Amino acid sequence: MTDFKQLVEAARTCRRFVESDPLSMTDLEWLVDCARLTPSARNQQALRYALVGQGAVCDAIFAKTAWAAALKDWGGPHPGERPTAFIVVSQPEDAGHLTWVDLGIAVQTIQLAAASRSWGCCILASFDPDLCRKLCGIPEKLAPRLVLGLGKAAEKRVVAPVPADGKLAYWRDADNVHHVPKLALDDLIIGRFQG
Ligand SMILES: Cc1cc2nc3c(=O)[nH]c(=O)nc-3n(C[C@H](O)[C@H](O)[C@H](O)COP(=O)(O)O)c2cc1C
Repeated sequence: MTDFKQLVEAARTCRRFVESDPLSMTDLEWLVDCARLTPSARNQQALRYALVGQGAVCDAIFAKTAWAAALKDWGGPHPGERPTAFIVVSQPEDAGHLTWVDLGIAVQTIQLAAASRSWGCCILASFDPDLCRKLCGIPEKLAPRLVLGLGKAAEKRVVAPVPADGKLAYWRDADNVHHVPKLALDDLIIGRFQG
């Protein structure tokens, strides 16, 4: 894939994975190495990452995550399609608002990096920070803010136009393809000024 927009389009949230073909610790390190190179307000680089490969800790974190609230008849990845790794991203408890911007940049970079290797990634705000702190030994001065569920992708996801009713909820079709409605360019640009 050479075109950056194609990569961004391919980097849709993934919620079903090839559980029998896990990511390795080296794979997770590569993802964080990509995040390491991202912009950071005042270049403070305050984010810290706990890497969780397949195993008991991964299972325990998974048990306290919530997936795809819009898919009412699906309770999350079934056995065989669960994430094979998590990255827990933490920031200082007293971090200012610009560190939250750093957080977004970092997790999106990891999602793009994963997509560049045909791996899937789901950014999860629905997780148990206290459990992650305990299981991963995250120090008190850091607050776990997001976890990333990762693995080899096992579902097809595509961008769709927003339907006529204007609803932005994603859906799955009869072939189990996941559709994500995105607004049109002209809905986003509120003005063009030149000269
Ligand atoms: C900050 C943030 C938190 C999210 N938390 C969850 C979550 O807890 N569970 C989940 O299934 N998806 C979560 N998502 C994924 C969103 O649902 C997803 O980005 C959205 O449906 C659009 O799909 P797309 O990423 O393919 O464009 C989160 C995304 C972001 C950016």
